[in-house]
Amino acid sequence: MLDQLDREYMPTHVGIIMDGNGRWAKKRMMPRNFGHKQGVETLKKITEECSNLGIKYLTVYAFSTENWKRSGLEISGIMNLLVDYLAKELRNLHEKNVKLMTIGDIEKLPKAAYNKLVESKEFTKDNTGLVLTVALNYGSRRDISHAIKKIILSDRESPIDLDKVDDTFLRDFLDTAFLPDPDLIIRPSGEQRLSNFLMWEAAYTEFWYSDINWPDFKKEDLHRALHDFQNRNRRYGGTK
Ligand code: FPP
Repeated sequence: MLDQLDREYMPTHVGIIMDGNGRWAKKRMMPRNFGHKQGVETLKKITEECSNLGIKYLTVYAFSTENWKRSGLEISGIMNLLVDYLAKELRNLHEKNVKLMTIGDIEKLPKAAYNKLVESKEFTKDNTGLVLTVALNYGSRRDISHAIKKIILSDRESPIDLDKVDDTFLRDFLDTAFLPDPDLIIRPSGEQRLSNFLMWEAAYTEFWYSDINWPDFKKEDLHRALHDFQNRNRRYGGTK
């Protein structure tokens, strides 16, 4: 499949909902966090492959605003994995010229995770290769409501000209302001929903679903998704 990919027509921005870790672990009669641990291994491989393929932006959904409903054990497991991932992988990411970013309210994460994220973002801030954005305590509805709060505050400071409020106005206030809209969103594990991920940004995104659980997702699956993407006819509401 790799040889069939058009290197000149890669999506600029790929989003991934890293789903199916829990089911993958359950099938093996293992705790859910074992699935997340394996999910991190997949993340490392897919990040590397996106970087090799010259994809500019990769955004991964790691922890949603709704994920706080999970057990304390699972939440602390994910946060520990995050800290561990950054501790072990940061140098490698840096060597690959990857710039780490986040979207979502990371200040509400446990202190160790927050501090490690701030430090890692600072460490990679001048890198010019792949921008790896991790969505943490992220939800589109929260991002949009938070943006509206910022807009109201800004209007109180100096009234906003209503003629300036167009399709692009809101995006400057979103956490995702630094990102182009995603071209392709991949969701493994058989679910076919957006789950509060990049809702505003995905207006013209191509979706790709697969039954494979995230821990089993291979770079060949990424190639299949990219190949399908390259054969889609994107019309953005027009005709072609
Ligand atoms: C969805 O699978 C996965 C998550 C909510 C967490 C994803 C987290 C990781 C891959 C690890 C931590 C992230 C980083 C960046 C180190 P699920 O648990 O909903 O699976 P299920 O639907 O099968 O239960």
